[in-house]
Amino acid sequence: MSGRDPRSRRELGKQRRPRAHLCWGHLTIAPLWPLHGANLGTLLRTCDAVGACLAVPRWPWVKQALARGNTLRHRSCVHWVNDPVRWLQRQAAAGHAIVGVELVDGACRLADLPMAREPTIVVLGHEQTGIPVAALDLVGTAVEIPMVGTGMSLNVAVAGSLVAYKLAGMI
Ligand SMILES: C[S@@+](CC[C@H](N)C(=O)[O-])C[C@H]1O[C@@H](n2cnc3c(N)ncnc32)[C@H](O)[C@@H]1O
Repeated sequence: MSGRDPRSRRELGKQRRPRAHLCWGHLTIAPLWPLHGANLGTLLRTCDAVGACLAVPRWPWVKQALARGNTLRHRSCVHWVNDPVRWLQRQAAAGHAIVGVELVDGACRLADLPMAREPTIVVLGHEQTGIPVAALDLVGTAVEIPMVGTGMSLNVAVAGSLVAYKLAGMI
């Protein structure tokens, strides 16, 4: 025994919820213009881990990608969105905070982003073109994840997962 023995699946299972969380609508991760299905599968697992919902466009391949990417016994709550910009307008009008994860002027750094204290939508951009301007106009808080490498940006599922953990108050 090293004192650092890996926990068994049984032990981990006892620490987790016995079933999927209900839709609290407190934190919703919204990759509304996805390009790659694999990123949606990754974000679905993050949603389960932090107790968030996932909002995705109602496109046929998205449904298939989520079914393929669901490696969990229970899957998180998924909201299907017909028109992303109008949906964001409705969420804002209903009092949800809209957090845009994007490299834009005036964005706060991830370390300075406080835990979500009100229902919050986390908007993620398209893998190649980012968040469309019409949606950026609806963002109340923009957050950027600092980088020191040579790449221009992070993978969208990595960026979304980091922000989800921070807003959930789990890191
Ligand atoms: C691969 S990036 C898109 C980059 C795109 N080429 C552009 O210039 O807008 C996909 C999405 O991941 C998120 N993202 C990636 N890196 C980020 C970072 N360092 N800070 C904040 N968001 C980031 C944003 O939501 C972005 O729209």
